[in-house]
Amino acid sequence: MTDFNFVRENEKKNGDRNDSLRSPHFAGKGEKAENNVHVRLENVSLTYHDKTAETLALNSLDFDVCRGELLGIVGPSGCGKTTVLSIISSIIKPSEGSVLIDGINAEERRNVCGYMLQRDELFPWLTISQNVLLGAKVKHMKGRKDYAYALLDKYGLGDFKNRYPQQLSGGMRQRVALIRTLATSPEILLLDEPFGALDFQTRLRVVEDVHAIIKSEKKTAVFVTHDISEAISMCDRIVILSARPATVKKILDLSAIKELAPLERRESPLFQKYFEDIWKNLQNKKD
Ligand SMILES: Nc1ncnc2c1ncn2[C@@H]1O[C@H](COP(=O)(O)OP(=O)(O)OP(=O)(O)O)[C@@H](O)[C@H]1O
Ligand SMILES: [Mg+2]
Repeated sequence: MTDFNFVRENEKKNGDRNDSLRSPHFAGKGEKAENNVHVRLENVSLTYHDKTAETLALNSLDFDVCRGELLGIVGPSGCGKTTVLSIISSIIKPSEGSVLIDGINAEERRNVCGYMLQRDELFPWLTISQNVLLGAKVKHMKGRKDYAYALLDKYGLGDFKNRYPQQLSGGMRQRVALIRTLATSPEILLLDEPFGALDFQTRLRVVEDVHAIIKSEKKTAVFVTHDISEAISMCDRIVILSARPATVKKILDLSAIKELAPLERRESPLFQKYFEDIWKNLQNKKD
C-alpha cells in the first residue's frame, strides 16, 4: 500500500478529514501545492428527485483532480459515475457540498469543461472537418479552424478532413470526437466510457492514442470507465467508488507506472497488483 493510500485509509477509519492528504500532489502547506488543484469536490452529495422516488446517488464525496492529471473513476454499474461528471460540469447541482474549479464555484466556470461520450456522436451528413468545428461553431468561438486542422494533422487524420464519419474506422472516429472536444480548448476533459462501443483490439490502440493526445495537450481529464485494465493503463490516479450511493472507497496512486504508455503498463509487474487491489475494493473484500 502506498503511503498516501495508507494515510487515506487511516483518515477514513478515524473519521477525520485532513486536507493535506487529498492528493499526493497536494501538500496543502504551500501556495504552490494549492495552485496545483484544478478541481475539488468537497463533501458532495446528490439526491435525484422524481415523481415517484428519491434516489441518493452520491454520498459525501471528497477528492481533488490536479492540474494536468488524468484521474480515473471506477465503480459498480449505476453507482453514480456519470453523475460525478455531470456535477463537475455543472449540468446538475450538488444537493450538498461544493465543486470548485481553480478555487471558484464550478457554476461560474462551466464553460471550461469538454465532454466526450461513449458513442462518438459525429453527424454522418457532415464531413470530418465540419464535425470537428461544430463545437466551436455552437459556442460561437471564432478562429478555431487553424487549431482544429492542426490537431487533425498532428494526430494522423489530416488526409480525412473531407471524408464522412462512415468512411472512417471506429477508432478513427473516436479520435475525431476527441479532437472535436479539444477544438473548443476546454481546460478539463470529461470522458464517460469513451471506448465502450469499440472492439477490444481497437480499444487497445485508441487508449494508446487518446492517452498520448491528452498528455501532449497537457489537459486535466476525468475518465470514467468500468474496465479496470483500461483505467490502470490510462490514469495517474484512480478513484474507486462504492455501490450506490457512491462513496470514495479508495484512491489508488499509479505514479510508479505513470511514465509508461498504456500498452507498456499492461506488461508491468505492478499491473496485476493494481488490478487485484481495485477488484477487491469493488467486491468489498479486505486485503
Ligand atoms: N435523472 C435521473 N433521475 C433519477 N435518477 C437518476 C437520474 N440519473 C441517474 N439516476 C440514478 O442515479 C444512480 C446513478 O446513476 P449514474 O448514471 O450516475 O450511474 P453510473 O455509475 O454512471 O452508471 P453506469 O455504470 O450504468 O454508467 C442510478 O441509480 C440511476 O438510476
Ligand atoms: Mg454512466
